[in-house]
Amino acid sequence: MGANTAIELKNVTKVFGSIVANKDVNLTVNRGEILSILGENGSGKTTLMNILSGIYFPDHGQILINGEEVVIRSPKDAFSYGIGMIHQHFKLVDVFSATENIVLGLEEENFNIRRSAEKIKKISEQYGFEIDPNKKIYEMSVSEKQTVEIIKVLYRGADILILDEPTAVLTPQETQKLFTVLRRMREDGKSIIIITHKLHEVLSLSDRVSVLRKGEYIGTVNTAETNESELTEMMVGKKVSLNIRRNDPVDPQDRLVIKGLTCISRDGVKQLDNVSFTARSGEILGIAGIAGSGQRELLEAVAGLQKIDEGSIVYNNPKTGGQDDLRNKTPMQIRDLGVRLSFVPEDRLGMGLVANMDIIDNVMLRSYRRGKTAFLERKPPRNLAERIIHELEVVTPSATTPIRRLSGGNVQKVLVGREIASAPTVFMAAYPVRGLDINSSYLIYNLLNEQKSNGVAVIFVGEDLDILIDLCDRIAVLGSGRITGIVDARTTTKEEIGLLMTKHDGGEPNHG
Ligand SMILES: Nc1ncnc2c1ncn2[C@@H]1O[C@H](COP(=O)(O)OP(=O)(O)OP(=O)(O)O)[C@@H](O)[C@H]1O
Ligand SMILES: [Mg+2]
Repeated sequence: MGANTAIELKNVTKVFGSIVANKDVNLTVNRGEILSILGENGSGKTTLMNILSGIYFPDHGQILINGEEVVIRSPKDAFSYGIGMIHQHFKLVDVFSATENIVLGLEEENFNIRRSAEKIKKISEQYGFEIDPNKKIYEMSVSEKQTVEIIKVLYRGADILILDEPTAVLTPQETQKLFTVLRRMREDGKSIIIITHKLHEVLSLSDRVSVLRKGEYIGTVNTAETNESELTEMMVGKKVSLNIRRNDPVDPQDRLVIKGLTCISRDGVKQLDNVSFTARSGEILGIAGIAGSGQRELLEAVAGLQKIDEGSIVYNNPKTGGQDDLRNKTPMQIRDLGVRLSFVPEDRLGMGLVANMDIIDNVMLRSYRRGKTAFLERKPPRNLAERIIHELEVVTPSATTPIRRLSGGNVQKVLVGREIASAPTVFMAAYPVRGLDINSSYLIYNLLNEQKSNGVAVIFVGEDLDILIDLCDRIAVLGSGRITGIVDARTTTKEEIGLLMTKHDGGEPNHG
């Protein structure tokens, strides 16, 4: 072990029942470095970090800190060794302020709230956090909550920070801010361990990257000496082609015709302003835009979950040949027409799955909830669950495993798979690949293409412009709640979309 080593893991193994989540993992973290942990969904990243931060205790192996073997039995132990973790699902108390959350659970002698506020201010200035210490958590954006979590860890004197997929919930701008803070910490001599599925982040932010595959440690490389395809191969264990197979639309029909859609929030902000477009069967319509430009309101309006102030959403019903105005329908009636919304929110816990139920029951929750008898046949849902597991390569011992035992990305695959499997006529997918590994992301893209080939009208809300351009047929760009342009994906450029995204027509940008 080098003089510069902060932590060393030796042969760490963690078993859950029949699953070996970590198998003989070796890992070295240096002082003053940013180390990425990379691996497919379910490869054991979160488990390994939970071991370091005292949430799980390993079955075998050693942890050395500054060359000394240590035993970490609780998060408090971990803090005493300077290790603090920022989890994917924040553990903050909603009705408390930032300051109250930061000091919560501390047993400081002569505790003094003013002195704490002073210390928080100092930390904020040192690393460039912008935060109002008196703001309540429930009033905060996801990015602000994350900042509170980071300050909380720094307040306790952590010099080894672990961040589990911190950027999955951030906009590109917020991600850049976070990275600036992390780089400052590195300069300060702190060690940062970051889990992310975004390879360009691994390459631009970290010094080294360690790869796990199916619970095993594969190796560590310097980011300056590697590239996306080498990392993907290390992760998956073979060469993978990351290609989107886009077919031309076959006989597209107008399925959803949206005219003059306007939604005004309670405080009078136009979240959608005179939005008009058509979504066609057999086509993927992309929606691009800076986060908070009206994407959520638009999809929720179609799904019947958002109050509409003006405009119409006409559904051309392929079964009856008639027309339905979705404005007059309940969310349940809209679902029954075949219009499905899969929205992966920033907080993936609240996404409509029941953690204690198994995969079959969660699939059934959607497809069979209107069944009349109490003793539902589990066979069709079982087949469906097994199909989702197979097609989306969900890492799970079986279809009867409770959702809470799956890794974050695998939970999400079940969610997206469930909606796709429900045979929709209109499928709206917002951020379906948030938290998915690169291989799984392409599985989803190709599933969307398959839906399109089956004649489904697909609406895809995405963040990655390269993917929008490769996947979609047309792209509608939202800027401040308005459609600033609808372009042909086959001929447009990133620059053109970028310009449309920031075009405001003189209106104020809205943040929703
Ligand atoms: N508490 C638990 N009980 C049972 N199995 C678990 C538990 N926690 C994790 N697992 C299993 O251990 C394996 C590794 O999970 P882990 O959450 O560490 O993966 P991950 O690499 O973080 O994946 P993702 O990228 O999807 O977040 C998975 O097969 C998961 O189902
Ligand atoms: Mg994880």
